[in-house]
Amino acid sequence: MITSLAYLGVRSPRSEDWRRFGEGFLGAELAADGPDGSVRLRVDDAAWRIQVHPAEQDSVAYFGWAVDHEEDLDVVLERLAAAGVTAERGSAELAEARSVNQLITFTDPWGFPHEVSWGQHFYPATFRPGRAVSGFVTGTQGLGHVLLMMPDIEAGHRFFHDVLGFKLSDKIIVPGQLNARFYHVNERHHTLALGQCPPGVAVFNHLMLQMKSIDDVGSAHDMLDEYDVPITLSLGRHTNDKTFSFYCATPSLFNIEVGFDGIEVNEEWVPYTYGAAAIWGHKLDPEAKNRPPGIVHPLAN
Ligand SMILES: [Fe+2]
Repeated sequence: MITSLAYLGVRSPRSEDWRRFGEGFLGAELAADGPDGSVRLRVDDAAWRIQVHPAEQDSVAYFGWAVDHEEDLDVVLERLAAAGVTAERGSAELAEARSVNQLITFTDPWGFPHEVSWGQHFYPATFRPGRAVSGFVTGTQGLGHVLLMMPDIEAGHRFFHDVLGFKLSDKIIVPGQLNARFYHVNERHHTLALGQCPPGVAVFNHLMLQMKSIDDVGSAHDMLDEYDVPITLSLGRHTNDKTFSFYCATPSLFNIEVGFDGIEVNEEWVPYTYGAAAIWGHKLDPEAKNRPPGIVHPLAN
């Protein structure tokens, strides 16, 4: 089944802004553009990990999950079919465009587009960060984690846990404020988080990138003003995965959590429930209250 987040794709009117944001601020490397002029960012030896396609409006293009073995794609197809979700095998052309060997595509019950692939293309010893950072924690932990929001978190749990096999790491429940669940598929404490949001919409809130050094987080924090990057949550440390991080707005509505020091889980992990999201810090910036909580799309019914 799914073992990591391999890549992420979004569409955005500000795709060009990702060159400076990605290379100069995040410390990613610019890969060659995609055929449609998309900006492609590397954070390790994978061909690319983040792709931003030029478009009129911001939207999620795909969450790109990975399986370890070719046959696992059949298992995912079977489980989706049993749950009544239509999935399709991607063409050879699509696999080439995603720099993977094979993939399947489907849309989840909240309208989020997903791809599950095997055989992401790697080019060992080729990654050169865009600025002086020690690098990104990837490998078996994949690109990072994403937080999706939906009105019915129990339904979200049934789909991502029961159907797709994401394993519960813990819950954070702050009555009246936050109802979130965190799931692992590898050693990373969570690769997927689900949060409850108001009825009628679904939200892609943020992508977390984990840096290898606390100084990579500090130096990015130093550059917020120079790069005109709005901060969303101040520096802080999470209760559950213990990540030290801050959150900032990307050029494309969703946020990036620039993190360090997240804990790892194993097969013996026992899920916890926490009553707060932060040990300290992670204060919502007053101006961030006026921005959308991420890439928001209406639900079909
Ligand atoms: Fe996060």
